[in-house]
This record gives sequence, C-alpha cells and structure tokens, in this order.
Amino acid sequence: MDPTGPGPDSGPSLPELIRKKRDGERLRDSEIRLFVRAVTRGALQEGQTGAMLMAIRLRGMDPDETLALTREMMVSGRVLEWPDSWQRLLVDKHSTGGVGDKVSLALAPALAVCGCKVPMISGRGLGHTGGTLDKLESVPGFNISQSPEQMRHILEQVGCCIVGQSEELVPADKVLYSLRDVTATVDSLPLITASILSKKAAEKVSALVLDVKFGSAALYASLESARTLAQSLVSVGSRLGICTVAVLSRMDGPLGRRVGNSLEVLEALQCLGGQGPADLRQLVTMLGGSLLWQCGQAGSVGQGAARIAATLDDGSALGRFQAMLQAQGVEAGLARALCAGTEEQRYQVLGRARAQEELPAAQDGTVQRVEALPIARVLHELGAGRTQKGQPINHRVGAELLVAEGQRVAKGSPWIRIHYDRPELSAEQRRALQGALVLAGSEPFTPSGKVAEILLPQGSRTLEELSGEQACGSGQALLSPA
Ligand code: URA
Repeated sequence: MDPTGPGPDSGPSLPELIRKKRDGERLRDSEIRLFVRAVTRGALQEGQTGAMLMAIRLRGMDPDETLALTREMMVSGRVLEWPDSWQRLLVDKHSTGGVGDKVSLALAPALAVCGCKVPMISGRGLGHTGGTLDKLESVPGFNISQSPEQMRHILEQVGCCIVGQSEELVPADKVLYSLRDVTATVDSLPLITASILSKKAAEKVSALVLDVKFGSAALYASLESARTLAQSLVSVGSRLGICTVAVLSRMDGPLGRRVGNSLEVLEALQCLGGQGPADLRQLVTMLGGSLLWQCGQAGSVGQGAARIAATLDDGSALGRFQAMLQAQGVEAGLARALCAGTEEQRYQVLGRARAQEELPAAQDGTVQRVEALPIARVLHELGAGRTQKGQPINHRVGAELLVAEGQRVAKGSPWIRIHYDRPELSAEQRRALQGALVLAGSEPFTPSGKVAEILLPQGSRTLEELSGEQACGSGQALLSPA
C-alpha cells in the first residue's frame, strides 16, 4: 500500500489526513497509525510531514488522539525488554527543555548508584533549548547509538546509559523531533507529550519524573500553560502504565552558571563531585528523590533526595558517570581525566573555544535576574544550536555567568564570559547579552528555589508538602516497595 496516494481500500490518503487535521477534525487511531507508519518508513515527503506537524500545532489533539500518537510512536521501533527482577527498579527522568539544564547527566549515574536501572533515551537541542545528547557528544568518543542489546549490557554493568533515538528505538520520534525543530512546531502540547512519552514507554520504565519548565526561556512561559502540559504528560504516562510525576520548575534564568554543551558537561561534573551551583543540585536531588520515592526505594521524597545527595558527596555518582562514559565508547584515560582531573585537565579533554570575552555590568546594582532566552539565542547564532536539520554544532560555544541572582555587582565588573570561535561578537549580540542582566537598586537577597509545584496522578502538591516526613511517610509511595 502506498500511504501517500489515494487508497480506495485502505482508508484516506495522507493528504486527506492532513486536510482533516488542518480543518480541526479528529483523527481516528487507525489514521494516526497510518501517518506514523508512513513517517517511520520514509514514505512521506518532508513537506507533508511538516504540514501535518503544523496542522497538529495549530489545531491540537484531544487526550485520546495524543495517547494514540504516543503509542504509535512508541511501537515505531522496538520496545525494550528487561529481566523481571528489574521491573520496579526501572526509572527515568525527562525535561521539557531549558537553558543550562544538565540535570540528566548528574541524575542518571546517581540513580544507578542507588540501585536503579536507567535506560535513558534522550534528545538533541530543540529550538533555543539544549539537548542532553549534544552535551554528551562534546565528550570525544561518546557514542549515543547503542542497540537494545548493548543497552542491556550497559545496564547490567553500570546501571545507566544515555542514548538517542535510532532506526531501532522510537524512529518516528527521530524524524518528527528534528523536523519540529525547523518547522516552528516545537511548542505543541500533543507533540511534546507524544515525543517524550513514546521514548519513555519504549524504555519500559516503571516510574518517571518529568521536569516541566515554565518561564520566559521555557517552551511554555506561564505556570498555567506549563501545568496544562504537565497534566497531559501525567495523564498519558499513567494511561501507559508508568507511575508518572511532573515537577513544575522555573526557567527564566539559566539553570546553574554555565550554558553551552561542553561547559555544561563541566558543570555537571562539578555537581557529580558534590559541588557546583545550589539550584542545579537542588533539582537533581529533588527529582531523584521523587523517583526513589515513586519506585519504593525511599520512604519520602526528602529521604530519597538525601540518598541522591550522598552519592554526589561521596564521589560514587562521579565514579558511575566515568563508568558510563567508558561503556559508551570514551577511552579510559579520557574518562579518567574528565572525572578525576582538575578543571584544566577537563578543558584539555573537551577543548576550549578560541575566544573568551567578558562583558562588564553597565551600572551598579543587585542582580534581579539573568534572562536565559537572549543568552541562548546569541549562543545559538554563534553555533551552539541548529537552524537546519542534522546541522553540525560547535560544542565549545557557551557562556559562564560570573554573577548570581540576588548578588550586588559594581559598574564595570565582568558579569558573563562568552566562549566563541568567531573573530568578534556583533554589536547587536552584545546589546542582546547586556539586556539579559537585570539590575535594581535593592538590597542583596537569597533567590528562591526553582521548584514551584509537583503534580502527582492524584493532584498537585508543593515541595514542602511532599518533602516532609509527615506529609509523605513510608507507605505513601506511588509504587509499593518490591
Ligand atoms: N523533549 C523531548 O524529547 N521532546 C520534546 O518535544 C520536548 C522535550
């Protein structure tokens, strides 16, 4: 059957399906199957796929259509199989995308140290947001393409791996993900839901925590719109049999102090070694604590967070990251230099961009916030992100924040260091970057944490409600202990 042409016996043609969605009609499960199969087999012209993505972006999908799309994308490749004894230990985390978000790099090994199995299928940068796979590929030799058999071997030996979509694993997401990036369809609720959950369902995990970002540098700016996305994710995840929790976290300023692929690996290494910025550590421990609680490995989110923190502080998570790097192709000496070396030795492995330029604060003041979006856009222009499908990126382009929210800065003191390979930043780029530093005459202050709200299948909670022993003591785990 040619799914792109008219099919008298085989249901509507693909142009007819695109028309239906364009005109706001509902697609039946069989029609969604036809579309996803055609995408997977390469039977659609890119223009047709782009048109359907835009129709879905503009017209939306109801919850049943979204579930059907997720299921079809999940089965577009192999669904992973694991030993029965791992069932309750299989967990994962995914984010809707942000700037400076290197949580997965630290969290996967920390969870593995706690006895979990983490078969993480991750993504590349989407729009202005960074991607875990791009960050890992800044490490020479790191191979994101692992077969299901290789993943199983790595999980047996190490406990965690981070891989990409492939011909074998969620191939439909591989196609749609890269096309969304160049067709202005990244911020579609059903497409985000299906993209994230098809990967997680194909991993066959029991428990999942989703970091749903909101704010000026997130895919959804307002808390309300991000909550709607979180509800869709939790509902579809639960209908797929995955114990799913969503954490709504702020994404106005970058997470941590470093943005850009190799610079974020450096900061993740700091976090894995028990150091680095407090906001990053808080998110890593909280998301990990939730997962340990969800799968019955901790009596409360707070207890789980303390276990994750201990793996960062005693060096065991860093050791596990080193083992994962080696298992995924990084030469042993390089992995050791990265994980046990000084910052300078780490730079020698990852390389440095040719130019580093610091920009001065234009006036005295207290840092109210540092806007992540203008920084991400300039870095994107400098080569950190893609404007065309499959385009190579420059892993060494990035930015280091030299100031923190709530801190006093003096006029003329450097507040950001940009790493780039081009001869000079343009005047427009400098203007955009300077606009990212928002100062006021107020007193210094301690910034609030990134986590705003937590959504469980049975409703939302604040972090305080969830972290306290009393509010969430043993017996309240979403999955009971094995
Ligand atoms: N991460 C994904 O895997 N897909 C999205 O659509 C957004 C974030």
